Amino acid sequence: MYRCIYVCMALMLCFFLYSCDGGQGSVTETASETAAETTEIVTVLFETTTTETTPAETTAETTSAETTPAETTAETTTVTTVETTAVVTIETTTAAEMTAPAENKFMPSVLAGEYTYNNGSEPVIEVVDGVTYVNGILIANKTYSLPEDFNPGGLHPDAKAAFDAMQAAAAAEGITLKIISGYRSYAQQTKTYGNYVARDGKEEADRYSARPGHSEHQTGLAMDINSLQQSFADTAAGKWLAEHCAEYGFIIRYSADKETETGFMYEPWHIRYLGVEMAKAVTESGLCLEEYLGITSVYAD
Ligand code: DAL
Ligand code: ZN
Repeated sequence: MYRCIYVCMALMLCFFLYSCDGGQGSVTETASETAAETTEIVTVLFETTTTETTPAETTAETTSAETTPAETTAETTTVTTVETTAVVTIETTTAAEMTAPAENKFMPSVLAGEYTYNNGSEPVIEVVDGVTYVNGILIANKTYSLPEDFNPGGLHPDAKAAFDAMQAAAAAEGITLKIISGYRSYAQQTKTYGNYVARDGKEEADRYSARPGHSEHQTGLAMDINSLQQSFADTAAGKWLAEHCAEYGFIIRYSADKETETGFMYEPWHIRYLGVEMAKAVTESGLCLEEYLGITSVYAD
């Protein structure tokens, strides 16, 4: 009888221990699921950071994030923000592209102090290693292109330093200025221009996006500020930029009502570094750079 009770108790104890183990196993499993979910979330957030600087890849990554099983409301919010950002920052510059290394062999060497000025005479045009200088100023427009391998690797340090000074001065007056696109390589411009052609057709895209090799962004001397909307001109930042950029060596490169001369529509956000003296001279002349130098901006074909 006692033996029977001991056997029953032993059996009950075994069953109890088995049940506890099962519970722990279940918790362990849940923990691994949580770890997997956490990994997914981290991955999504990491992709989010990456997509902010590589807009072309954003759509695919965002789509994949949207279908991630571990998606939560918080993740959805993050991804949606990226989609919005991607629309307006199609030409976003990464931090690594921000300033070119000073020793780069493609660094434009002719800046303020080395120009000759147009005083009504014929422009002096020099082509050095496939790069065109007009009166000593590096020119990239529809007429004059850059070689595919022209690659300063970032913004010219003088242009970046001038922007930083301008940004600080603007901030002191409550104005925020941000570079949303600085240096763009030939390959990047190929993608950017191609996207616009696919969206709007070649004729329309040619009015506002340069063909590869023809973009000033490839020089490392141009940058887009704050917004790619023409309404930027009417904002406090747009007005401040137009009024003060020459003091820091920049011109609004594609002026209003000068599409025939510059080859591009009005871009109140696109500034070009020329150095203070030249930028002030061009701005005070009321002419666009092509008019000031006496050159054209027209594609050959
Ligand atoms: N949006 C200017 C013209 C460029 O593509 O370089
Ligand atoms: Zn631009």
